[in-house]
Amino acid sequence: MNYTIIVILGLLLFWFLYDLFQKKNAVIRNFPIVGRLRYFFIKLGPPIRQYLIASNRDELPFNRSQRNWIDDSSKLVNNYEGFGTDKDLYNPGHVFINPKMFPYVPPSGHVSNDDPYFLPCAKVFGLSKGRKNPFRPYSIVNISAMSYGSLSKTAQSALNKGAALAGCYHNTGEGGLSPYHQLGADVVFHIGTGYFGCGITGADGKRYFDFDTFKKLALDKYPGKIRAIEVKLSQGAKPGKGGVLPAKKNTKEIAAIRGVEPHTDVLSPNHHTAFSDVRTMVDFIEDLANKTGLPVGIKSAVGHLGYWKELAQIMKDEKKGPDFIVIDGGEGGTGAAPPSFADHVALPLVFGFSQVYQIFQKAGITKDIVFGASGKLGFPAEILKILTMGADFINIAREAMMSIGCIQSQECHTDHCPVGVATQNPRYYRGLDPTLKSVRFANYINTLRKETLQMTHACGYEHPTQMMMEDIDISCGDNNKTITALEAYGYENTPDDFEGLNSIRNCPYLGEIKTA
Ligand SMILES: Cc1cc2nc3c(=O)[nH]c(=O)nc-3n(C[C@H](O)[C@H](O)[C@H](O)COP(=O)(O)O)c2cc1C
Ligand code: SF4
Repeated sequence: MNYTIIVILGLLLFWFLYDLFQKKNAVIRNFPIVGRLRYFFIKLGPPIRQYLIASNRDELPFNRSQRNWIDDSSKLVNNYEGFGTDKDLYNPGHVFINPKMFPYVPPSGHVSNDDPYFLPCAKVFGLSKGRKNPFRPYSIVNISAMSYGSLSKTAQSALNKGAALAGCYHNTGEGGLSPYHQLGADVVFHIGTGYFGCGITGADGKRYFDFDTFKKLALDKYPGKIRAIEVKLSQGAKPGKGGVLPAKKNTKEIAAIRGVEPHTDVLSPNHHTAFSDVRTMVDFIEDLANKTGLPVGIKSAVGHLGYWKELAQIMKDEKKGPDFIVIDGGEGGTGAAPPSFADHVALPLVFGFSQVYQIFQKAGITKDIVFGASGKLGFPAEILKILTMGADFINIAREAMMSIGCIQSQECHTDHCPVGVATQNPRYYRGLDPTLKSVRFANYINTLRKETLQMTHACGYEHPTQMMMEDIDISCGDNNKTITALEAYGYENTPDDFEGLNSIRNCPYLGEIKTA
C-alpha cells in the first residue's frame, strides 16, 4: 500500500516538474497539473451543452428539433410534436408557407394516391440540349457530393443501398467512383480539381483530366448507372480553397479508386487545369457531354456575379453549356475547412441562388436549365421555399449523414467519428451496419418527400415546382409584419412546363428505384 502511494506521489511530482519546465503552454507552466483542467473542460463543453443545456432550437448547424425529426423519420417512429410549435414564429426571417382555403386533392387514378412518396424532378437533365442520354432524377431529393475517403465504406454503402431503395441519385464526391457507390443507386459522377478517378498526374506534378482514365475508372465500371456528370467549381463551405489527401489516408484502395500513387500526399488545387474561364469551361462541358452522351452540370458557390452573366450570355447565344446548375450555399458542410472560409466566403443559399437564378431568367433560358440547390435543405419547408425560388431539385449531405447515425459531434476532420460515418478507422466504421442504415436513409427520404408533397397539396398544387413566390411569406420581426417572398427577393420564378405526376411516371428518362 505504502509503495503504491509512493509511486503515485512520484508520478505526480514528475508530472508537476514536467509541466513546470515545459515551455509550450504558459497556463500549464504557471499552474502545473491544475492548468490542464482548463483543456479538459473545454473538450467537455460541447457535449455537455448539446446534451444538457442547449434548448431544442439553439444549436447550429442543426438544432435538436431538426436532428430529432430526421432521426425519428429514419426510424419510422412518431415524428410529430405535441401541444404546438416551440419555434418563435415572430423571429425575423421565419418562413410561412401560405395554405389555400381549398387544398389540392389528387383525383382518382392519381399516382399520389397509390404512392405518397413519388416526387421526381419536374425537369429532365440534358433534354433541352439534346444529349444522348437525358436523365430525370426519380427523387427531388438526392445525395450531395461526399467522397469515399471523407465518408467510410460502411457509410457510403448504406447511402448507396438506401438511395437505390428510395430512388435517389448518389453523387460520388470528388474522390472518384468507389465500389461502395455501385450497390444499385443511380450515380452522378463529380469532377473536382484533383480529377480523382478521371485524371492523371502530369510530369509537372499537376493533375489533368484524362478521358481514357475516366472511362476505365468510372464509366466502364458501372455501365448505364452513371446518369450525369457534375463539374465542381466550388463548394459553399470553402470556395476557392483546395484540399489535401494526406499520405496516411491515401491507402492502396483509395489510391486505386482515385488513380494516384498510394501513401503520398495528393493535392486538389483551388482551380481546374481543364479550363480557366467561362469560354473554356463551356467547351470542356460540351466535349464531355459529346463523348459520354451524358448530361453535364456544374456545382458552385456564389460570390461575384460577372462570370455568371458571361455564362448566361454564352448559353443563350450558342445553346451550349451546363445542363444543370447546382448552387451550394455558404452554410454548406464539408469534411474539413478553415473556419475563416466556412464562416465568411460565399453567400448563404437564398441570396446566392436568387441572384444567379435571376441572371438566367433575364437571359430567358431558365427552362433549358435544371436548377439544383444545397445547404441545409433536408426539411419539407426548406424544400418548398427553395423550389418556390426557382430550384428544381435539392441535394443533401449532412442530413443524409444524420439519417444513418451522425450525432453532430463535429469531429469529422479528426478521423475519430464516434458513429463510423466520417472516418477511415475500422475501430469506428465497423459499428455502422450498412443494411440497417440503408433502410433508415430510405425511410427518411420517403418521409421527407411525403411531407413535402402534403404541404404542396395544402398550398393547392400537385407538385412543388408549381409554387409561386406569393405562396411564401417571410417574417420581418414583430409589429405583426410579414412580406411575401416576391416582395423580399424582388422576382417571380418562371413556371416550368409541368406535365403532371401521372405523365412523369411514364417518362423514359426517369431514374431507377429498387423495388423489393
Ligand atoms: C463529409 C462531407 C464531404 C463533402 N465532400 C464534398 C465534395 O467532395 N465535393 C463537393 O463539392 N462538396 C462536398 N461536400 C459538400 C456537400 O456536397 C454539400 O454541398 C454541402 O454539405 C451542403 O449540403 P448540406 O447542408 O445538406 O450538408 C461535402 C460535405 C460533407 C459534409
Ligand atoms: S458523428 Fe460527428 S464526426 Fe461523425 S459524421 Fe457526425 S459530425 Fe462528423
